[in-house]
Amino acid sequence: MSASLHTSFLHSSYDNPFMNASGVHCMTTKELEELSESKAGGFITKSATTLQRDGNPEPRYFSVPLGSINSMGLPNAGFEYYMSYVLDYQEKNPNLNPPFFSVAGMSVEENLKLLRRIQDSEFYGVTELNLSCPNVPGKPQVAYDFELTKEILTKVFEFFKKPLGVKLPPYFDFAHFNIMTDILNQFPLCYVNCINSIGNGLYIDSENESVVIRPKDGFGGIGGDYVKPTALANVRAFYTRLNPNIKIIGTGGIRSGQDAFEHLLCGATMLQVGTELYKEGPSIFDRLECELKDIMNKKGYATIDEFRGKLKGL
Ligand code: SIN
Repeated sequence: MSASLHTSFLHSSYDNPFMNASGVHCMTTKELEELSESKAGGFITKSATTLQRDGNPEPRYFSVPLGSINSMGLPNAGFEYYMSYVLDYQEKNPNLNPPFFSVAGMSVEENLKLLRRIQDSEFYGVTELNLSCPNVPGKPQVAYDFELTKEILTKVFEFFKKPLGVKLPPYFDFAHFNIMTDILNQFPLCYVNCINSIGNGLYIDSENESVVIRPKDGFGGIGGDYVKPTALANVRAFYTRLNPNIKIIGTGGIRSGQDAFEHLLCGATMLQVGTELYKEGPSIFDRLECELKDIMNKKGYATIDEFRGKLKGL
């Protein structure tokens, strides 16, 4: 028997659940094309702002043994660059799923403007609204402000009719899982993506008695092994609380088939890979696919649906 990784997500079919996490290997059309040609089931653009941004000063990304710290500051080529790419991709590949399109405006008004532009365009893929970037100096993570999140979603769904998901920061308290769920359940969201990096960690080089990245005095978003238990907790908390029409994308600490299996067991439908994709490049998707299939074969699962969300209690 050979396990199938086939995944249905929002009425579309994907060969497997793996994608890049927005921010990794998706800034340029060259990188996006490399993802398209890789074994990833789907892929997503870098979060776009209206205009091109250089982002924060370098060094702004640092790999450490158990993960990464970054304070990129949303460098991106600007909304129109990614819009041209996704429209061109759709035209050239009418039988494939278009890339997911990530946007991260710097204000409520900018988010609304970007989403209006998507609504009025020919883009027929999935849009991800990033409410969780921790790295823009002076701009707190939107989704830690519950009232602001509700205000944005209320205004967005007055006009936005295409499939939309939101990228969330990690939450650390049941009270916050519950408050956020109450808000999200009021809207026709297609998915939530749990989690963005754990914001504002600090990694130190003790030999040099120094921080390792320049922006924000060394504070940055933490990814990789450090964040997997928090990511799994967020996937599980939202999977068990949200209206079942709202799917979960699991992101955080996926570097092996076993990590992927655990995210799926907690209830994720698609899986995004950030830190480990940065380290290994797009060939990582071949390895993840083989490792996840091996685990499923050993356990006797023919499809992901047989175990998705079925984490047991004690
Ligand atoms: C960044 O560009 O700073 C990372 C994006 C994010 O964490 O949302």
